[in-house]
This record gives sequence, structure tokens and C-alpha cells, in this order.
Amino acid sequence: MTIDPETRTLFESSRPGAPGFRFPEADRPDKPESNPVPDTLRRGYPAALPEHGEIETVRHFTKLSRRNYGVDLGFYPLGSCTMKYNPKVNEDAASLQGFTALHPMQSDEDAAGILRLSGELLEGLCEITGMDGGTLQPMAGAHGEFVGMKLFRAAFRARNQMNRTRLLVPDSSHGTNPASAHLAGFDVVTLTSGPGGLLEPDALDPYLDDNLAGIMLTNPSTLGLFETRIKEVADKVHGAGGLLYYDGANLNAVMGRVRPGDMGFDVMHINLHKTFSTPHGGGGPGAGPVLVKKGLLPYLPVPVLVKKKDGKWMRDWNRNQSIGKASTWFGNTGVLVRAFTYMKAMGGDGLKMVSDMAVLNANYLLSCLKEIYTAPYPGPCKHEFVLSAKSLKDNTGVAAMDIAKGLIEYGIHPPTVYFPLIVPECLMIEPTETETKESLDRFVQVMGELRELADRDPEALHHLPRNTVVGRVDEVRAARHPVLSHMMIDDRPD
Ligand SMILES: Cc1ncc(COP(=O)(O)O)c(C=O)c1O
Repeated sequence: MTIDPETRTLFESSRPGAPGFRFPEADRPDKPESNPVPDTLRRGYPAALPEHGEIETVRHFTKLSRRNYGVDLGFYPLGSCTMKYNPKVNEDAASLQGFTALHPMQSDEDAAGILRLSGELLEGLCEITGMDGGTLQPMAGAHGEFVGMKLFRAAFRARNQMNRTRLLVPDSSHGTNPASAHLAGFDVVTLTSGPGGLLEPDALDPYLDDNLAGIMLTNPSTLGLFETRIKEVADKVHGAGGLLYYDGANLNAVMGRVRPGDMGFDVMHINLHKTFSTPHGGGGPGAGPVLVKKGLLPYLPVPVLVKKKDGKWMRDWNRNQSIGKASTWFGNTGVLVRAFTYMKAMGGDGLKMVSDMAVLNANYLLSCLKEIYTAPYPGPCKHEFVLSAKSLKDNTGVAAMDIAKGLIEYGIHPPTVYFPLIVPECLMIEPTETETKESLDRFVQVMGELRELADRDPEALHHLPRNTVVGRVDEVRAARHPVLSHMMIDDRPD
């Protein structure tokens, strides 16, 4: 196997004996083994670590960072991911030593600061969503959904209604919704959206019986549309004894305007790592707090954060109806600190303006791009919208994937593609509120140039991007024959 010197890992470019760091001579030669590691814990062979000088190491990581793409570098309209700019003050707060040096086993008294921050974050999230309490433990949106489904089950168990196993999920919901419901033991029934992309309440009618567990709804849906007939849906589900789960990952569209608690939802999660700083498009750390209405409070994961009479916060482990713990410790603390800082910095009016601007930016882009591409749902939209490249593909052979790869050539991160599945050749675009009109206009211009290239020289588009470290990859081969580990150290060239 030939290794391109530019893409070698530190292991592959290791130079045995190259100095990186020299330990000083022991200053107690009379006691060389004053703190010996027991023989049973010593490795029997040298650690297989790469050897490099400092300069090579620094250059390696600097090169890697320059090949990376992030929201600090350019426009990142990755639909359903809310890749907004992350104010640096949030990073500063999250890296304060008082937070980073804490150990989860420290007493409530020692950890008074982070407990107060967490408690007040929960209070703020409840105010924003109209819910009554919750947990910060889930480490991602999908994790939150799973915890929410476990709460449904606990409620049905307490009511002696374990026959309630059928969970309704519209076809415009996020893919994690049916997966989480299935994993938690429910039988998932997919509801087909109406012609306008919205849920038709009548679609629920065949399932309104004793087996109904409830409905999981992504609102706004993955089509970027707000479910307008939500009150009718809530009345039907509650009327049949079921519960409503709100996937609030897309809260960036509705904060300060509507509250899931007021719409009739019983349980919900928020993707803090989308709406409240820490953009997560690359799969980075997340937090998916789950919020509930009063009736479901007894089932929350332990420990539950409780405010004592003296105003201090404590962790309450004594909950005999709890579903148990949802995380090894207490959640993804760094993400929680960023979210708290963001929430406090923005304030109520600021958060409302965030969603207003996110919706305005998305509608501006939609109105410009529907002139150039097909918009199956012409809007108005919420924080994101979908385009379809189906007719483009039929007429020119240029697919949604080609447009996405073409954008990379222009230094723009592609939108989400081929999702949601109900839109053929889908491009799902979420600009977020932090983009300027100039960056939106440049995106429109580049999308226009790609469209023009598709008509003039479609073949050229199949080969983009050209000016990147990695060009077109063979997606089918990558999926069918994944190489899951890199070269082993023992295989490296001499
Ligand atoms: C609407 C919606 N629900 C759920 C999720 C899942 O969140 P996570 O990726 O944190 O598990 C996402 C992720 O983007 C989402 O957009």
C-alpha cells in the first residue's frame, strides 16, 4: 500500500528515536523506585507510540486543522443540524476551571455552582417550552427521545396499561423518532403526511383505541413546516388515553413564539447542541434534555435536581418510581454550561429574535432558490426548507449529490441530502439566524452557477470537487467495503 506523505498519520510518519520530550534525570538516584508501579500493572513491551519532534507534531495538527471545515470558516447550511455561529464567550465559560476540574463524585456542597447552573438551566428551558420539570442527563437528541419513550412506558406501567404499545410517527418526522420508539419496545406505525406535507388529524382515527401509546411529532417537521392542526391531534391522542411526545430539536424555529407545553405535549426533548450553542454537525458532543408535564415528574431519571428551601440545589436520589439513571454521570456538562451562558446572554427577547431571524433567513433563501430549483413545498417555511433535484436529474443527469459536491468546490458546506426520504433527490437547507445577507446571497449565486453548469456541462459536475484534499469518494464502495481501521503500527514502512 503506498501512502501519500501528505496524508500520513503520525504513526505512519513516526521516526524511531526522534526526540519529542525528554524527562529530566531523577533527582533521587538513591531512591529510583520510590513510587514503583506494581509488576502486575506494568506493560511487558514498550508502548506503540509515534515518535516525532515538536515541530513535526505541530505541523501535522496545523495541516489537519486547515483541511477541516467548520462554521467558523464559512456557510454551513446543513438542514436539521442548526449549524449556527457559536459565540466564543460560551467556550470561555465552559473552559473555566471551576467546571472542568470538578469530579462527578464530589458532594453537592462542593459542586454547588454546577448544580445551581444546571437547576437554573432547567428552569429556563421549562419557561421557554411550557413544561414543568426535567432531566439534563441525555447526551443527544436521540438519547432524549429514548428516555422520553421510557417515561411513556413508566407512566403506562403505573396506570396498569402495558397494552398501550402502538406509537404513531408521521413520515415527515426525524429518522431517530421511530428508531427510539422501537428501541424502547413500542410498535411504530408510520402516518402518511397530507398533500401539503402536514399531518392530517384524520390519519390518527384508525388507531384511537386502548392500544394507543401516543404520538411522536417533530415540529417543525423535517420539511421545515409547522404542524398547524396540532390542537386537534392533541385532543384526539389524549381523548384515547395516549401521550404526546414533541421532538424539539428544531426549537430554533419557534422559541419565544409558541411552547410545546401549551400545545398539549406531555414529554419533549431539546437539542441544546443545535439551538443553544455547540453546533454538532460533525457528530460532536451533545445534550438532549428531556422536559415533562407534572404527571410524568415521578418517573424522571435519578438524580433529580431539586431546589432546597435555602435556595441551594441538591441531587435527589430517592425516587422510587424513577426509570433509573440515563447517563453514567449527570450529562454532558460542557454543553450545559455553553447552553446556560447562551440563554443568559440572549435573554428572553434575544431568543425570540433568534427564531424570528432564523425563519426570515430561511424564507429569504427559499424565495430566491425556488426560482432556480424545484421547491416541493413553496412556503412560507420555518427555519429550514427542502428543494428537490428530481427534475434536474431527469433532464440533465445531475443529482442532488452532484450539487452538494459542487458546493464544496466553492468552499461552502453542502446541505443535508436525500433526507427526508419522502422528497426525491432532496436538498435540505437550514441557513440559521447567524448568517448575513451577503453570505446568503453568495450561496444563492453559487447555487445558480451550479444550476447553469448542470445545463451547460453536466459531466463536469460529476467530477467536482477537484480542488480539495479528498475529491469524489466512491460512496457505494465505502458503504459496502468499509475499512474500519487504519494501518497497524507493525505494518508501517521502515
Ligand atoms: C428533528 C431532529 N430530531 C432528533 C435529532 C437527533 O439528535 P441527535 O443527533 O443529537 O441524536 C435531530 C438531529 O439532528 C433532529 O434534527
